[in-house]
Amino acid sequence: MFKTKEALIPYMLLVAAMAAGLLWHESETVPGLGRSVTTGQVAIGGPYVLIDQDGRRKSSADFRGKFQLIYFGYSFCPDVCPTTLSVMADALDKMGAQGARIVPIFITIDPERDTPAILKNYMAAFGPRFVGLTGSVSDIAKVEKLYRVYAKKMPLDEKKSGYGMDHSSVLYLMGPDGRIVTFYSELIPADALAKDLKAKI
Ligand code: NI
Repeated sequence: MFKTKEALIPYMLLVAAMAAGLLWHESETVPGLGRSVTTGQVAIGGPYVLIDQDGRRKSSADFRGKFQLIYFGYSFCPDVCPTTLSVMADALDKMGAQGARIVPIFITIDPERDTPAILKNYMAAFGPRFVGLTGSVSDIAKVEKLYRVYAKKMPLDEKKSGYGMDHSSVLYLMGPDGRIVTFYSELIPADALAKDLKAKI
């Protein structure tokens, strides 16, 4: 819903960054060299502390050592989010035992409505392995920034109360070291996603 050009820009920037390997390089100080060098790593992701659907504190460090497939969206989303989460669930199922090596994570961009209790109910629709994460508005804003997520409240038409969210829609595959491996468009079919994930993990 609310698929605007604005919401697609972050995705196109990601494509450009990954393809060109030019944007958003992460700098590291190399021991002995005493200066920063460009490592070629696209700087997406980073440390965060959020709350899961059981109300427990979850940090990015809790997922170290595991591949993670991360999607940002909101539970009130009428179409794109549930479809994409279903594709994630299907792809991991199709991978069999290999799928168990990837933790599926949903991070809300609508923390005001997506409480842990709401997420608990929502995640259950996609399978027991899904981790749903929420947090304060500022905590979520920080994570959105780390992952270069675009999200904006949009008023619904005058007959309905409340709001929708315009948002970028990208699946991020993060490696066991917490760094990005690759990302996928929401439009990827489950078969293609399963095939590529198998090749990458
Ligand atoms: Ni959505």
